This record gives sequence, structure tokens and C-alpha cells, in this order.
Amino acid sequence: MIRIGALISGSGTNLAAIMRACDEGRIDGKVVFVGSDKPDAAGLDKAAKKGLPTFVVNYKEIIESYKKDPDSADLPQDFDIDVIAARMGLPGDGTFSDRDRAFLVTRAIAEARLLANMAKWDFDLLVLAGFMRKLTPYFIDRVNIDPLHPRIMNIHPAILPSFPGTDGYGDTFRYGCRVGGCTVHFIDYGEDTGPIIGQRCFSITPDDTIETVKEKGLMLEWELYPECIQL
Ligand code: GRF
Repeated sequence: MIRIGALISGSGTNLAAIMRACDEGRIDGKVVFVGSDKPDAAGLDKAAKKGLPTFVVNYKEIIESYKKDPDSADLPQDFDIDVIAARMGLPGDGTFSDRDRAFLVTRAIAEARLLANMAKWDFDLLVLAGFMRKLTPYFIDRVNIDPLHPRIMNIHPAILPSFPGTDGYGDTFRYGCRVGGCTVHFIDYGEDTGPIIGQRCFSITPDDTIETVKEKGLMLEWELYPECIQL
């Protein structure tokens, strides 16, 4: 039985598909917790209805409070900004911009809180199911304790390496592609760059709209993610 933790930001339809696959035996596993960066993520209700424990780390609040008073930032004790910056390809000697500093500090605070919540459960695999926050090496290295066994998976709404970023279906459609798709991959330090586990594609026809492209894609995501988790 794989113990699966999930992070979400939105409607949680992929989470629902994963929970269903666990119930139906298509995944030999169970979801053990669901976390979100948004208190109003509809997926949290889906998890709670299944009796699963949930938690929220409110990224927006953390970012706003840093903007108001950067000096009061409650940094995790084990956070070394230069080490994390260097792992992200930023200058490791503290010469990065204020914007990068704000990003690294606020994410470390948020990620330390995610880790503290997650520490309550044993889990083998962490699935990002529509989690719309970039995770930094501070978090990734504390979950991937063994670098040879990555254990954070993501689903992306495009055929990577095309169209990384937050709007894969929109970017695919606007580019005029005749094929769209989705990708499940392990995450690394880059944006949607980690090793690919599985992909599915669909045709885009002249009568498609951005909405129908998203619908076609999501239906494939619900099949692909459980298959990749089981694999
Ligand atoms: C999906 O399209 C996924 O590929 C992307 O975010 C969306 C999440 O949808 N990363 P849902 O919350 O699972 O319904």
C-alpha cells in the first residue's frame, strides 16, 4: 500500500480521481492527507467528505505580511538563503535581487509550515494535484531525502517540454497546436522540468474552444495520474 500525500490549490478533480482509483483498487494505496495553499480550495471539501485529514498553509497571508514588514519574517532555523539560491541557479553570494529574496524567504516560511504539517503522517509519495505554487529546493530536498528516489509527482496540462508554466492548455490552444495533452513527471528544481513518467494526448479540431480543450485534457488527466502513481 502506497501512502499518498496530496497538495492542491483548486477544485481537486485530480485528487478525486486518485481517491477513486484507490477505492477501486487501480492504485494499491491510500491518500493519507491533503494540504492546500488556499483555505477556500474546493478540493479540501472533497477530501473532508472522504474523512481525510486536511490542512492549509495560507501562502497569500505569508506573502502579504512579508511585504508589510520584511524584518519580522519568521524564518525557519535551518534555512540558508545562499544555499537555496545557488541550487536554484541564482547567485549564491547574496547578490540576488530584492524580488528574489522576497520569493526565497516567503517560500521558505510557507514550505517549513507545509513540512511541519506533513510530518504528522508517514507517506511514500507526495502528489501535486493542481498545486499552483512553485516548490523550492528547501522543500524538495527535505522530501526527497534519497536523491535516487524522487517522491514528488506533478501533473502538468501540456505535453512537456512544450508549454511549461501555469496555463498549459491555454498556451497549447493559443499557439494553434493540433494536438494537446498532459504529462505526469517527478519534480526537480526547474519549472515543470523533471523526469517524465507518462503522457497522454488528444486531437484539437477546428471547432474546439479553450473550454473544450480543457475538458478533453482533464478527462485524460484523471486516467493518467492514477496510472502513473500505480506504475
Ligand atoms: C489540472 O489541469 C492540472 O494539470 C493543473 O491544474 C489543474 C488542476 O485541476 N496542474 P484539479 O484541481 O485537479 O481539478
